[in-house]
Amino acid sequence: MIKLDIKGCSSFVNGADYKEYVNKALEAYDTLASEQGAGNDFLGWKTLPIDIDEQMIASMEAVRDDWKGRGVNLVIAIGIGGSYLGAKCAIEALSHSFVEPATKVVFAGNNLSEDYLAELMDLAQQRNVAVVVISKSGPTTEPAVAFRIFKAYLEERYGKAEAAQRIVAITDKERGALKTLSNQEGYRTYIVPDNVGGRFSVLTPVGLLPIVLAGFDIRAMLKGAAEEREELLKKSETNAAVQYAAMRNCLHSRMDKAIEILVTFNPKLTYVAEWWKQLYGESEGKDGKGIFPASVTNTADLHSMGQFIQEGSRLMFETVINVENAARNVVIGSDEQNLDCLNFLAGQHVEHCNAMARLGVKVAHIDGGVPQMEIGMTKIDEANLGALFYFFEFACGVSAYTLGVNPFNQPGVEAYKKNMFALLRKPGYEKQTEEILKRI
Ligand code: PA5
Repeated sequence: MIKLDIKGCSSFVNGADYKEYVNKALEAYDTLASEQGAGNDFLGWKTLPIDIDEQMIASMEAVRDDWKGRGVNLVIAIGIGGSYLGAKCAIEALSHSFVEPATKVVFAGNNLSEDYLAELMDLAQQRNVAVVVISKSGPTTEPAVAFRIFKAYLEERYGKAEAAQRIVAITDKERGALKTLSNQEGYRTYIVPDNVGGRFSVLTPVGLLPIVLAGFDIRAMLKGAAEEREELLKKSETNAAVQYAAMRNCLHSRMDKAIEILVTFNPKLTYVAEWWKQLYGESEGKDGKGIFPASVTNTADLHSMGQFIQEGSRLMFETVINVENAARNVVIGSDEQNLDCLNFLAGQHVEHCNAMARLGVKVAHIDGGVPQMEIGMTKIDEANLGALFYFFEFACGVSAYTLGVNPFNQPGVEAYKKNMFALLRKPGYEKQTEEILKRI
């Protein structure tokens, strides 16, 4: 279960203002619960932790076992935005940071870098490869380009029939090019439910299949999410989602805090922040409104962004993820010469130093004018990540309704695409091509 501590904001926010925002967040909570708000056809994520059944889990585990049987040791998961960040962040958080796993899951289709794809092809040459292609809408350019390249690669290397056994598509149930292609080629497919948007899809096969393929326990992840859901179903002023939504909106509106920094103290969680940035950035940044989501990974970033956060423009507040227990033990030894003068730390766990750094930063940043909230989780494992995913999704719905925007659309994402298609001379964009060429 996720614990929220807002005490680090108390010296910044007046009690009456906070109370006003708690009331607004409670109204927003009702909007989300009653499913009467804007974007209410995209609320399928609310019950995903209890909707994903044993049959679905078993079928994803069957893909894992089938590919193991074929000797697959490299899975390329192709997707962008919500079609990759959830799986990427879970796999980064749960994997050993240095030792190669039996099956490595890597990601493609989230950029248009030629170097990236060429280097991934180099790795593919040394491995036994399968592909998961994920796109709800089907024709998203970045994953479509990557898939075209890796589909051709697999067919050339393994033959068409075997390649079809090494491709799984995750897409819309009936629309879109990827669905048509999957039907034609006989790929195994999973459905992204109509009522679940990309950035809320980590607990569908979009996130769960790559996570299973990387060797992790999605049953525990769904259980953690289901337990967090039970907690958040209890409407109250101390509901963690209500408090988080109330405090961030209060800091934004009353203290002019325009930036929220998600702070982690473990490099394994860097991509959790990337997932969170998409969730909050796409859900709230619209209609000229929203809090800009940023992130740092400490203690590394204390030696880069730390100066700005301590003394630069006073635009930000911080939300710190505090993992209470390290999974491993490394104790600092004693040294006879003590030239580095660190014998005062002899016998201490490294994580103790990390915790003291976190507390030291907390006091320094509060003194420097940066309010701080804390999200506590006991350890990094599947259950805690499932709970964290559900907490942030639910709180995002409450927060965006508190702010007064539709959390579940992303109209602004289309703007660059039209220009890119025009510049790439996609048929049908001729008029825009002429116009845009005059402007660049
Ligand atoms: O949250 C969203 O809906 C978006 O970020 C999508 O996930 C992203 O644009 C990828 O879309 P698709 O899965 O249709 O390729």
